[in-house]
Amino acid sequence: MKILSGTSNPKLSKDICKQLKLKLVNTNIKRFPDGEIYVEINENIRGNSVFVIQSTSTPANDNLMELLLSIDALRRSSAKNITAVIPYFGYARQDRKVAPRTSISAKVVSNLISNAGANRVVTVDLHAGQIQGFFDIPVDNLFTTPLFARYIKKKFKNKKLICVSPDVGGVQRTRGLATRLKSDLAIIDKRRPKPGKSQVMNIIGNVKGKTCLIVDDIIDSGGTIVNAADALKRNGATEVHVFITHAVLSKDAAEKIKKSKVEKLIITDSIDNSHKIKNNKKIQVLSISSLMAEAIKRISNSTSVSDLFN
Ligand code: R5P
Repeated sequence: MKILSGTSNPKLSKDICKQLKLKLVNTNIKRFPDGEIYVEINENIRGNSVFVIQSTSTPANDNLMELLLSIDALRRSSAKNITAVIPYFGYARQDRKVAPRTSISAKVVSNLISNAGANRVVTVDLHAGQIQGFFDIPVDNLFTTPLFARYIKKKFKNKKLICVSPDVGGVQRTRGLATRLKSDLAIIDKRRPKPGKSQVMNIIGNVKGKTCLIVDDIIDSGGTIVNAADALKRNGATEVHVFITHAVLSKDAAEKIKKSKVEKLIITDSIDNSHKIKNNKKIQVLSISSLMAEAIKRISNSTSVSDLFN
């Protein structure tokens, strides 16, 4: 087994390798002056099972192209099989036609990854589980619920907890955490009057006097979370803590969180945000490196991945 890293999140790749006691494959990934990408593998990988780690986070198109070229280089170098490990799967939110004459980009991206030569995909908290069906190769979708649950059990002893889904689409994910914590569940009825703007219509459930734990897969502009925290506080919540897998944190999102009613935002390192969150004491990172390393080990040994979540 060998691990190759793209350039989107080298720290996470190194941490995964450390846990697996492996060295990263020696590569040369660079940009030509016109922006085109060049991928060269500097060691023999013939007959090896290779895992390519690359989040397709911002710059999404460059990082995606780098992933595709890496897979292609591996295929042409006679790797036995290629697993695309995509901790953050960009374009996942465009998983259906939201209006007439729009593209379904999650499907286009899935086709690109398969056609480049990937034999398997590993990802984390996929925006919508059904995206797995866009691929005709196996997809292992890992969950951060156990990681968040362990943290919460340690940090929130003797508090009246309620897990909150910031929209109807996230109920299943939030219920998973609430079940592990044996806590109550509330749902926010969120509307999007236009793309990038969110509005809280109602809160379903009683949050009065409770510590609210909002759970979501993505924080992008931060609008959903800031509005949800305001609404929860207006309805009597004592504290609002937020648990997000993929911290896209576009534009001034990190600053918005700093000024918001959110007590703490807990994110993972599926996206490298080290520069954006420096000196932001409200944001804390939990690493998914052990989860990823364990999943890679199990895939390589052909043992169960789902057992990780039982
Ligand atoms: C949407 O369905 C996602 O789960 C997130 O709630 C959304 O992407 C968050 O976006 P923003 O931070 O821009 O409100």
